[in-house]
Amino acid sequence: MRTIADHVLDIAQNSVNAKATYVKIAFVEDREKIVIKMEDNGCGMNKEELSKIFDPFFTTHEEIRRVGLGLPFLKQNAELTGGYVHVSSTPEIGTVLEATLFKTIDCQPTGDLAGTFATLVTSSTKVIWEIQRCLKGKCYDFSSEVLDGVDLSSPKAIVAIFEYFKNMELSL
Ligand SMILES: Nc1ncnc2c1ncn2[C@@H]1O[C@H](COP(=O)(O)OP(=O)(O)OP(=O)(O)O)[C@@H](O)[C@H]1O
Ligand SMILES: [Mg+2]
Repeated sequence: MRTIADHVLDIAQNSVNAKATYVKIAFVEDREKIVIKMEDNGCGMNKEELSKIFDPFFTTHEEIRRVGLGLPFLKQNAELTGGYVHVSSTPEIGTVLEATLFKTIDCQPTGDLAGTFATLVTSSTKVIWEIQRCLKGKCYDFSSEVLDGVDLSSPKAIVAIFEYFKNMELSL
């Protein structure tokens, strides 16, 4: 089953595929809802592309075997809960996405957010990641700039980053 963390991974990979060097993600959860905000400085989209992003199988990344189902699934899952997805984009400037999912019976499980954040910062190391995660008013912030000088090819460092996010989630 797809989780909300899978959507976060997809949205963030979309930014990486758009050649973003800066990606800001906020995942803010309270009793009633989850709001995901993403902002990137990637290639952006023109109006025609933007009008197709929720069409199943629309992709501009066939060369890397993308299928074009990430955003349609997110929209479908958000709308099933009474929520929505809004995307705005400017060519050469970047893209902003906001998704709201209400915690109804149709809401998917959150999934492994800690593992998702750790995967992003350890796998796309050229991107500056700014992550904010809040749960019922308690938050943690992470900027990948703190990893400057850390050898991200070292298994020890990677394990430490996964542990870090796991502990931050447990602290909420
Ligand atoms: N942040 C972004 N910046 C620029 N273009 C984007 C961005 N997010 C989505 N797009 C455009 O929307 C298309 C559809 O995105 P979507 O996530 O649905 O599919 P995909 O990433 O191509 O494939 P999949 O998610 O199924 O692996 C992308 O191929 C890309 O053209
Ligand atoms: Mg995608």
